[in-house]
Amino acid sequence: MIKVAIAGLGNCASMLVQGIEFYRSKGPDYTEGLITPRIGKYSVSDLEIVAAFDVSERKVGKDVSEAIFQEPNITRKIVEMRRKGVTVVAGPVLDGVAPHMVDTFRPVRVGTIEGVIRELKRTDAEVLVNLLPVGSEEATRAYAKASLEAGVAFVNAIPVFIASDPKGEYPKMFKEKKIPVAGDDIKGQIGATITHRTVTSLFRMRGVNVDETYQLNVGGNTDFLNMKTEERLVSKRISKTKAVTSTLEDPNIESEGRIRIGPSDFVPFLGNTKVAYIYVKGTGFAGAPVKVEMSLEVDDKANAAAVLVDVIRAVRLAIDRGMAGPLEQVSAFYFKHPPKQAPNDEEAQAWFRRFIEM
Ligand SMILES: NC(=O)c1ccc[n+]([C@@H]2O[C@H](COP(=O)([O-])OP(=O)(O)OC[C@H]3O[C@@H](n4cnc5c(N)ncnc54)[C@H](O)[C@@H]3O)[C@@H](O)[C@H]2O)c1
Repeated sequence: MIKVAIAGLGNCASMLVQGIEFYRSKGPDYTEGLITPRIGKYSVSDLEIVAAFDVSERKVGKDVSEAIFQEPNITRKIVEMRRKGVTVVAGPVLDGVAPHMVDTFRPVRVGTIEGVIRELKRTDAEVLVNLLPVGSEEATRAYAKASLEAGVAFVNAIPVFIASDPKGEYPKMFKEKKIPVAGDDIKGQIGATITHRTVTSLFRMRGVNVDETYQLNVGGNTDFLNMKTEERLVSKRISKTKAVTSTLEDPNIESEGRIRIGPSDFVPFLGNTKVAYIYVKGTGFAGAPVKVEMSLEVDDKANAAAVLVDVIRAVRLAIDRGMAGPLEQVSAFYFKHPPKQAPNDEEAQAWFRRFIEM
């Protein structure tokens, strides 16, 4: 069993919790839809949610199996949930709730980080997954410190730079405390980032220079509503843009404003469906123009949960092996802004395979 704690019981968490139950109900031989059916000795049914933190008055105090279906969550029900016997505990709000999200998230301001640490220790949690809203810089750092304090591994699904901290402070702390950390910012199963990277890698492989490119994303859940304010998006834009520029040889594409990537609008009727519009224009043989325009439509939350079930198991494998600090080989394959970026996703997958087979 892998004991998992979740911070932020929103739509991604709902799909993760239900997804674990879904694969458990299907039995160990059912592996459809999984990126990696087994990681070490672990299958998806080995995951067990033991603790959960949120700030919403509709979720705190409820059993996880009920809390994941409370508004404003809209994740479709994929399985009948049994009571888990795990009560959602209030975490500290800090900068988790933007002013324009107060009426949506309805925060109760009673939680403390000491309470989070206590709950992590009480439940013997092994891996804490951070699923706070984009822009939760202070709150993410608080949960990362709670992880360090409680001796729990940290999976950072959001674009705040912890595993890839440019100052190196968090990687150092996780190494010193002998705790693994994976991140930052989940790269969906077939999401906009991996699709965009695949196209730009193809251009590079075939000698076609990328002159300009954009990736515009729209969706209709609270994640997209939260991202309506540009101030909360600074790290998100860096994370998504770097994931694509790292596949290119052109050092000036960003400084010359020839790339634009990010969440673009909130379209309520889309719900958890995310649509990404990807455009790549380049120059090929003897100056011949090449243009790709595509749209990708996905269930944004299934996209995230598919990756989370792999990362949590990989982190547990790292714990078993006594590994500590940022897990570079895991993060490069599964996150947009890892501590070390692979030049393309085939290479990233090769790193991950080497990690599993170590
Ligand atoms: N494909 C994907 O879905 C994907 C990919 C990459 C990153 N992410 C990121 O994952 C995160 C979670 O996405 P989501 O769709 O579940 O978001 P969501 O808006 O559905 O859920 C966020 C939850 O966090 C809670 N919260 C707010 N402040 C908190 C605090 N201080 N402590 C504890 N809980 C707090 C809210 O009440 C809410 O339940 C977002 O940052 C999102 O951008 C998602």
